[in-house]
Amino acid sequence: MVTSIGNGRIRVAVLFGGRSGEHEVSLASARSVMEALDKTRYEIHPVGIDPMGRWITAGDPMKLLREGEPAPEAPAKESGNDGDGAALTAATRRELLPGADHVRFPVVDVVFPVLHGTYGEDGTIQGLLELADLAYVGADVLGSAVGMDKVIQKAVLSAHGLPIVAWQTVLRRRWRDDPDAILAQIEAQFAYPVFVKPANAGSSVGVSKARDRAELAQGLDLAARFDRKLLVEAAVDAREIEVSVLGNDEPVASVPGEVIPCNEFYDYRAKYIDGDSGLEIPAQLSHEQTAEIRDLAVRAFQAIDCAGMARVDFFVDKSTGQVWLNELNTIPGFTDISMYPKLWEASGLPYPELLDRLIELALERREDKRASKTRYEFDH
Ligand SMILES: Nc1ncnc2c1ncn2[C@@H]1O[C@H](COP(=O)(O)OP(=O)(O)O)[C@@H](O)[C@H]1O
Ligand SMILES: [Mg+2]
Repeated sequence: MVTSIGNGRIRVAVLFGGRSGEHEVSLASARSVMEALDKTRYEIHPVGIDPMGRWITAGDPMKLLREGEPAPEAPAKESGNDGDGAALTAATRRELLPGADHVRFPVVDVVFPVLHGTYGEDGTIQGLLELADLAYVGADVLGSAVGMDKVIQKAVLSAHGLPIVAWQTVLRRRWRDDPDAILAQIEAQFAYPVFVKPANAGSSVGVSKARDRAELAQGLDLAARFDRKLLVEAAVDAREIEVSVLGNDEPVASVPGEVIPCNEFYDYRAKYIDGDSGLEIPAQLSHEQTAEIRDLAVRAFQAIDCAGMARVDFFVDKSTGQVWLNELNTIPGFTDISMYPKLWEASGLPYPELLDRLIELALERREDKRASKTRYEFDH
């Protein structure tokens, strides 16, 4: 159980919105988090980040972002070349935009970044919070960065002997310079269909399935709009199974759940627009498969040096039952109907207690880091 710091409540800054294709999803997740946090135990400080990356702490940041009103005017950057330095100084002084009272970052005990995708889930905000010496929920810089980049993530997971489908990396530059060579290289390794994705994205943005050469070229063009690194991988005719993992050095896995996409695959529309995708919790799997998947989820979490939480996604081949690890999400969807909290509920941990545990893990992680020396004192 979380005890409050000093006599008062624990002060929690909840960060949402952000400079990401998943801005709207973040607003929905953060709304649920703020509703479920126990108000007798926590003092909540909402912090909105608009799609331009401007921080809003005054008034009702959630309302401002939902209504799409422009954020308060950002102060003009000072001229000269001290711009970047000023931003860093501001970060360490906990004022994210210098010189403006309405964006002064609140004094808090812990930060809960409920941000998905770029500049939220990729280690960048985590780096800023490290510099500001703030405890925060979830993976730190390294785990977040590896969790975000599908190419590096696959390399790390396969180095740990975890089952990953065959994949190939394509640089956007090479695709644009010599498309014929790239198509030939892909066709030499894979039979159609294949999946094409940007290395850094989420919510299926830029992901497509290609059944022939023309679709492959279209898929590469699409993915190239979102990232400089692209990925082609073998398509699995699969059930999609997800597991929630929680913990720091001794993570535990929830029961697995199954996503039943309403479209041909779990694309952006199936996730957020068409709304008919089903969740089956717990997933109908044999005892052996359930045990295998939970074990793989924990091993994947540890392989990328994750902390706090992650949702680990799998493919289970419909005909052979073979289990493949698809990806980890270090800041999974967090609405009260999202898979991550639902799986914990089904495993006996209700949503408000899950939030307690995440905050406790954030504070523990910070203590753990503080126990390491950052300076080497040697004897003469
Ligand atoms: N190799 C694959 N085989 C079958 N389906 C896939 C494959 N890769 C992706 N998909 C489908 O595309 C969806 C999104 O891909 P994913 O890699 O999970 O990206 P995101 O990070 O955007 O969720 C998956 O949930 C699945 O439905
Ligand atoms: Mg996914």
